[in-house]
Amino acid sequence: MAVRNLVGLDVGSKFVKALQLTENNGRFSITEFACQEIPPQLSPMDAVLEMFSRKRFKTRRVATSVSGRFVFVRYINMPLMSEDELVNAAKYELGKYIPVEVDEVLHDSQKLEDLPHSEGQEAEMRVLLVAAKRTFIDEHVAMVEQAGLQPVIVDVDSFALGNAYELTSMVAPDAVRPGKLVALADIGATKTNINIVSDTTSCFTREFYKGGDDVTDAISKKLGIEPAEAENLKRAPQGEEQRILDCISGTLEDICHDINISVDYFENQYDKKVDEIFLTGGAANTLGLDEALEKTVQKKVWKWKPTQHVEVRMDAESTELMNTNASSAAIALGLASRLRRD
Ligand SMILES: Nc1ncnc2c1ncn2[C@@H]1O[C@H](COP(=O)(O)OP(=O)(O)OP(=O)(O)O)[C@@H](O)[C@H]1O
Ligand SMILES: [Mg+2]
Repeated sequence: MAVRNLVGLDVGSKFVKALQLTENNGRFSITEFACQEIPPQLSPMDAVLEMFSRKRFKTRRVATSVSGRFVFVRYINMPLMSEDELVNAAKYELGKYIPVEVDEVLHDSQKLEDLPHSEGQEAEMRVLLVAAKRTFIDEHVAMVEQAGLQPVIVDVDSFALGNAYELTSMVAPDAVRPGKLVALADIGATKTNINIVSDTTSCFTREFYKGGDDVTDAISKKLGIEPAEAENLKRAPQGEEQRILDCISGTLEDICHDINISVDYFENQYDKKVDEIFLTGGAANTLGLDEALEKTVQKKVWKWKPTQHVEVRMDAESTELMNTNASSAAIALGLASRLRRD
C-alpha cells in the first residue's frame, strides 16, 4: 500500500497549527508539526506561509476547517430513507432550520442513527445537517490557496475535535470512553467549541465566544499592565498564582457557566447524562480552569492531549513544539485524521 500524507491546517484567531499525518500500511503516525502565532501586523495567510516555509511538509494537500456565525449545524429527526433520498430531502429541510437562503450555503447531511420506534409508527432516523455560507467558505479556501496549499477538505472545528476522538479510539482504545457520552471542549483564544460525542457519533455541538483572550484581558485590566505582559504572567505566573487567580476568577466562572449551559441543555433535551469532559485548546491550560469547571459541571474534567496517543516520527524540534502545544493541536490532528476516509 502506498504511503499517504495529509496535513490538518487549523487557522485559529491567534495561532495557526499544521499537523501532518502519514499512513503507511494501515499505521498512522504524526510526521510533522508546526505552530505559528499570528501577530497583529500579519494576516493569517502570512502566518501560514511562514509556517510552511520553516518546516518540511511532504504534501501541500490540507484538510482545514471553519467555524463561527456563518456555520450552521442542526440535528433533526427525519423519516427513514436512503442516502440518495436524504441528499434531496436534506436540502428542503435545511431551509426550515437556517437563518439564510439555502442557495447561499454549501451543505452536507449525514444519517447518524436509526431511532427506536413502536409498531404502527413511521420509522425515523437522526440526521446531522451542516451548512456554511458559500462566500465565507470561498474566502477561507482562497486564503489557503494563496498560501500555496491545496485545500482538499473543509470541515467544521467541532467535528474535527470529534475526529480526533475517533482517531484516538482507533489507536489507543484505553484513552477514550467506549459507550459513554463525552463532552469535548476546545477553548481557544476567542471562542469555545463543544462537541458531545458517543464513540464515533456527534450528538450535539455548540460554540460560544469566550476564551483565553478574555482571561488575558482580565489580568491586564485588573493589574493595569499591558496585554503582552498579562499574557506572559498568565502562562508563567512564577509565584503570583493567587494574585492571578483573584484577577481571573470571574472570567473563569463565565467560561465554566457557558460550558455548563450547553451540557445542561443537551442533558435535558435528550434525557441523557454526559459522563466526562475532555478539555483542549490553548486556554485549557489556564490556571485553575479545570478545577473550576469540575466544580461547576460536577463531572470529571480532563486536560486532553490526543497527540500523545499517536505514534510520532519527526525530528526532536517538531516533537518538542508539538508536546508544548499539545492542547492546541487537537483540531489539527482531527483534521489530518480525515486521511482515513480521504
Ligand atoms: N500555558 C497557558 N496558560 C494559559 N493560557 C494559555 C497557555 N498557552 C496558551 N494559552 C492561551 O490559549 C489561547 C490560544 O489557544 P489556541 O491556539 O487554541 O487558540 P486559537 O485556535 O488561535 O483561537 P480560536 O480557536 O479562539 O480561534 C490564547 O488565548 C493563549 O493565551
Ligand atoms: Mg482554535
